[in-house]
Amino acid sequence: MAFLLCKRAMGFSPWFFFNWKGENIMKQTKVFLNESEMPRQWYNIVADLPTPMSPPLHPGTGKPVGPDDLAPVFPMNLIEQEVSTERWIDIPEPVLDKLCLWRPSPLYRARNFEKLLDAPVKIYYKNEGVSPPGSHKPNTAVAQAYYNKVFGIKRLSTETGAGQWGSALSMACQMFGLECRVFMVKISYEQKPYRRLMMMTWGADCIPSPSNITQAGRKILEEYPDSPGSLGMAISEAIEDAVGDKDARYSLGSVLNHVLLHQTIIGLEAQKQLEKIGDYPDIVMGCAGGGSNFAGLCLPFARDKIHGKQISIVATEPTSCPTMTRGPFAYDFGDTAMTTPLLPMYTLGHDFVPAPIHAGGLRYHGMAPILSHLLKEKIIEARALDQIETFTAGINWARTEGFIPAPETNHAIAAVVQEAQKAKEEGKEKTILFNWSGHGIVDLAAYDAFLSGKLKKYELPEEELQKALESIAGYPKP
Ligand SMILES: Cc1ncc(COP(=O)(O)O)c(C=O)c1O
Repeated sequence: MAFLLCKRAMGFSPWFFFNWKGENIMKQTKVFLNESEMPRQWYNIVADLPTPMSPPLHPGTGKPVGPDDLAPVFPMNLIEQEVSTERWIDIPEPVLDKLCLWRPSPLYRARNFEKLLDAPVKIYYKNEGVSPPGSHKPNTAVAQAYYNKVFGIKRLSTETGAGQWGSALSMACQMFGLECRVFMVKISYEQKPYRRLMMMTWGADCIPSPSNITQAGRKILEEYPDSPGSLGMAISEAIEDAVGDKDARYSLGSVLNHVLLHQTIIGLEAQKQLEKIGDYPDIVMGCAGGGSNFAGLCLPFARDKIHGKQISIVATEPTSCPTMTRGPFAYDFGDTAMTTPLLPMYTLGHDFVPAPIHAGGLRYHGMAPILSHLLKEKIIEARALDQIETFTAGINWARTEGFIPAPETNHAIAAVVQEAQKAKEEGKEKTILFNWSGHGIVDLAAYDAFLSGKLKKYELPEEELQKALESIAGYPKP
């Protein structure tokens, strides 16, 4: 009895997890935080980097871009965050009010999946699928809509791959009374009609890209009338649309420093949740398209690693779009029409059009400069996975844990499976934490393709990679 009281007093676990003898009779699956425990600041890793990052360059002058160069594209309050070196940045109250609709997100222990894997691993995951659009994307969408609103902007223009980002920004714009236009990569527009309908339900205008309403789109269509589109093309269209209207600005759902910053709430919450149950991961994982969900979870842990913690941090990507595992670290444009500054990043070249795989959100030629820097400095690692392996993992997940993951998220799950197998082979106990970046309820066409055997193994051929890289030959080197 004394033991039981002691356990209760120390707050290890709620009393009903124990019987009269103090034996654990129920296993905890979720760790919650109260709304009052939600982080009040975002974490900026730039303040803790052991070596400085190369700056973005103006493509005309070859000199570092200044805040004024970015002013036609973004509001100044977000540009200040983009270049900030402050370690902690306050989250404004109106942003917290909206985030509270679904945050703090639960930290889960995937006990059923662990059982299936039968390996000496504990698997924790942050469930970002609980947000209204179903992914991590609204963590930054809400913040960006807020900052644009207080800056006096009336309309936002953006691109979307899988449709997760477009739907998140549509919802956020509606919350803050802004208009929203989304250029959706054509292949996803066709594969995912429900995402388009979600955007329309939240009041946005959704256009398949390449489109004929921008010069960039028309140019691509002239050359490639059947183009499936790419994130790089859609970004060009959205930027052109925004800079042509003084009341509009462009909004990006990944890659940039301020986007990664807004996502750090995921990792900061996870740290508090793990602390509550007295645990800490050996491995932190996530899938990476432009890098925002992975960064959101891993950057607070990368800070611990920089300060001496022994921990592996692994980003996963598709073998069809192997930016980090096969691309060079180079200066490149963020979009196909070469309208952005030159960013120092791992890249496949801004002309690269990935194969039309179903993980639309991972079809981007570049990687966030912050993550690229961490990869170059070996603070994080990267791994590429084939879509057959990722969908197999996703199906096993759905059949054990219940939740159907987004095709992007399956890349993280498949890497967790690899780590579990490795732990089993080595006979070592491991604690794995990963970001369950979103649900796949509106991606069921992708599951249909997999279940009916239509998906094929696909690895980007070397000749195609070399050809795509020709577009950055002669660019300055970071
Ligand atoms: C569910 C989900 N996960 C991951 C991604 C990849 O984006 P990022 O690397 O910015 O997190 C996306 C992008 O659309 C997504 O929808």
